[in-house]
Amino acid sequence: MAELDAMIGLAPVKAQVRSIAASIEVARRRAMAGVPFEKPMRHFVFLGPPGTGKTTVARVLARIFYAFGLLQTPEIIEVSRADLIGEYLGATSIKTNELIDSALGGLLFIDQAHTLVNEGDGQADRFGREALQALLKRAEDSREDLIIILAGFPQQMEFFLASNPGLASRFSTRLRFSSYTPAEMIMLAQTVMEQRGEVFDPDARPILWRSLEEVDRRRTINELGNGWYIRNLLEKAGQARDVRVMTGSAEPSLRELVTIRGSDLEQAYAELADVLKPRTLLGHAFISYVREDSLLVDQLQRTLQAAGIPVWRDTADLWPGEDWRMKIRRAITNKALVFIACFSQASFARGISYQNEELTLAIEQLRLRAPDDPWLIPVRLNECEIPDRDIGGGRTLTSIQRVDFFGDHLDDGAARLAASILRILAQ
Ligand SMILES: Nc1ncnc2c1ncn2[C@@H]1O[C@H](COP(=O)(O)OP(=O)(O)OP(=O)(O)O)[C@@H](O)[C@H]1O
Ligand SMILES: [Mg+2]
Repeated sequence: MAELDAMIGLAPVKAQVRSIAASIEVARRRAMAGVPFEKPMRHFVFLGPPGTGKTTVARVLARIFYAFGLLQTPEIIEVSRADLIGEYLGATSIKTNELIDSALGGLLFIDQAHTLVNEGDGQADRFGREALQALLKRAEDSREDLIIILAGFPQQMEFFLASNPGLASRFSTRLRFSSYTPAEMIMLAQTVMEQRGEVFDPDARPILWRSLEEVDRRRTINELGNGWYIRNLLEKAGQARDVRVMTGSAEPSLRELVTIRGSDLEQAYAELADVLKPRTLLGHAFISYVREDSLLVDQLQRTLQAAGIPVWRDTADLWPGEDWRMKIRRAITNKALVFIACFSQASFARGISYQNEELTLAIEQLRLRAPDDPWLIPVRLNECEIPDRDIGGGRTLTSIQRVDFFGDHLDDGAARLAASILRILAQ
């Protein structure tokens, strides 16, 4: 509880957690007195933008339930769609069930839960449904020894919850996390600094404050990632400071080793500008494909790089871990990414794959942008169909300009693709 109180802002969330703790305590006392009571276990939905403390609060909740003896472990298991989905239909419910078995006695945190229903474009997501069905059944059957939290961004989650009445009834407790205000961001910065045993030089504060107000005015705090943004910024500023004190002429004092100056912050902003400020860099082409097509994709990558286009690919830039989602999301929001969706008979046969996950993420993000923005180019790697997915603005993947990169079309395909990417990134 003290841990929760120490968190910045989050007043409604804190009040809710207090009320949950109160009902657990009441149930405990009734049990001791021999009065009938119901085990106060339940499942939750966490709604909030990136970096607003969802995972952190989930950890606190697990520890509270553990402290009251309602869970056997204070650990949480964090998963997302890819951990629940199997290679083929039928395998998904087995995988989901195994995962739930492994989480019994603790807390299962499903991040980006709304991606469990990837429909909305006329194509049923049978894998997602299978996982969801297994999940709903176990949410009911195992409710005595398992807490499940479904977390995600507000809009998408509302849609997701509305898509299935079973969901809404089993996950009836909602905790809403909101974006941080500049004042809260300042306090967050303060906390992070204290944890790291560091201090601001007086000239750093006005710079921090001005930049946070600017972020507030542009309403970009969610794209920047709220708490993540502060952490990244201070980390970069700390590095700038380290370089400054170690390359200075005099031997640095202890105080200098732990002080962040305005100039360190300025440098951190300049470094973060790559990812954070729109249109300050040329940007990247991201190639999304399935393993089977690696050889042809290697060739495509070489051609694009020869044309001076930086290429992101799973192999080098984006794995492992989940950072790639944030990286792609940010790059798209900042108009620094052209998404190259490679289709082939192999990708069509796969159905579910990382490619699909990437495509879904990109479409979700790109839909938030103006309808006239070009940003996604379907590329065919052999004679195949392109899935007819809705990409917003009244368009589908099949209705926009595509490029063929195979057979006789290799050279002109590559040239057209490179030209389109350069045109888009130069805008
Ligand atoms: N209210 C807060 N007080 C202190 N630190 C916070 C707070 N909110 C977020 N943070 C810090 O910001 C970072 C992101 O928080 P967390 O992982 O809980 O966010 P999240 O909502 O789960 O993000 P995502 O949607 O990206 O998974 C962490 O380093 C966390 O410690
Ligand atoms: Mg999280």
